[in-house]
Amino acid sequence: MTDISSETRFLHAIEMGLGAWQWGDRTTWQYGNNYDENDIRKVFNVSMEEGIQFVDTAEVYGSGASERMLGKFLKETEQPVLIATKYFPYPWRLRNTSVPKALRNSLERIGIESADLYQVHWPTPLMSVDRIMDGMIECTKQGLTRTVGVSNFSQSQMLTAYSALARHNIPLASNQVHYSLLNRTVEKNGLLARCKELGVRLIAYSPLEQGLLTGKYNTESPPPGTRRGSLASLLPKIDTLIKLMTTIGQDHGGKSNSQVALNWTIQKGTLPIPGAKNVKQAQENAGALGWKLTDEEVTQLDEASDLINE
Ligand SMILES: NC(=O)c1ccc[n+]([C@@H]2O[C@H](COP(=O)([O-])OP(=O)(O)OC[C@H]3O[C@@H](n4cnc5c(N)ncnc54)[C@H](OP(=O)(O)O)[C@@H]3O)[C@@H](O)[C@H]2O)c1
Repeated sequence: MTDISSETRFLHAIEMGLGAWQWGDRTTWQYGNNYDENDIRKVFNVSMEEGIQFVDTAEVYGSGASERMLGKFLKETEQPVLIATKYFPYPWRLRNTSVPKALRNSLERIGIESADLYQVHWPTPLMSVDRIMDGMIECTKQGLTRTVGVSNFSQSQMLTAYSALARHNIPLASNQVHYSLLNRTVEKNGLLARCKELGVRLIAYSPLEQGLLTGKYNTESPPPGTRRGSLASLLPKIDTLIKLMTTIGQDHGGKSNSQVALNWTIQKGTLPIPGAKNVKQAQENAGALGWKLTDEEVTQLDEASDLINE
């Protein structure tokens, strides 16, 4: 691995973060149905108590609601919290000047002067990577963010972003991508290895495969809402993996499936950011820290996961 630059070193020291898509999102997560702002406040507080001090939000989560909620919670705590948010390249907002403008709006909603990490949420054919990076460079020059990251970028898009930033002596801090025991694309296509080589932190989103890896969903009892369709093809195939996770968890003094799933992503050298809807889930997820799967267990889990995607 190359030397990690001093600006981005803090990200490599973080073992796990907290995802904030659930905060105010009704479409995928049905915010307001069986959980509300008070539950999310408890999720935030218990996570901070357990030492998880990195929150990943985005301007699009709950159309700004997630950033606003985070702003409220920050006012209620003395704890230092590291904040990551994201720029969404909407078709009507594609100038390089759109980027710092969007970040100013995010910062206003969160009630802070500068973010720790500002990420491009998705690449788009409507705006070249170089132009988006010009916007990101402007954000750092104006002191609006400490570091710059990307999300859902392929290896070649990431390398373009890396080079564009490097010309201004700015390191690319992270690439946030889908990674879990049920989605190992970035491990198989070389993106994870490339990130390690370049000192770019790979932030793993949906590390619980949106709840599937907790073992609470099956074909008889599928997840609610849009996840019923999006996760339908995986549901009939996961039994063996879930059973193995349960056995391995028991061998570690009763760790849960979610703790095994998250620990596995950490052992792979990534930074998982699980989402949670209530204090019980957040507390349980925090228990993924402080212990380690053995190399042999990681291999067993890899093999069981390979069988699913054969
Ligand atoms: N950059 C991107 O494009 C992108 C895309 C997706 C996500 N993300 C980020 O990554 C974060 C995490 O991903 P995600 O929210 O998609 O999925 P996830 O973390 O894999 O799953 C979260 C969901 O799983 C269930 N859950 C969590 N912990 C549990 C536990 N201990 N026991 C039982 N159920 C539990 C909850 O839903 P139920 O209780 O309803 O099952 C929760 O909402 C997001 O919040 C967001 O910050 C980024």
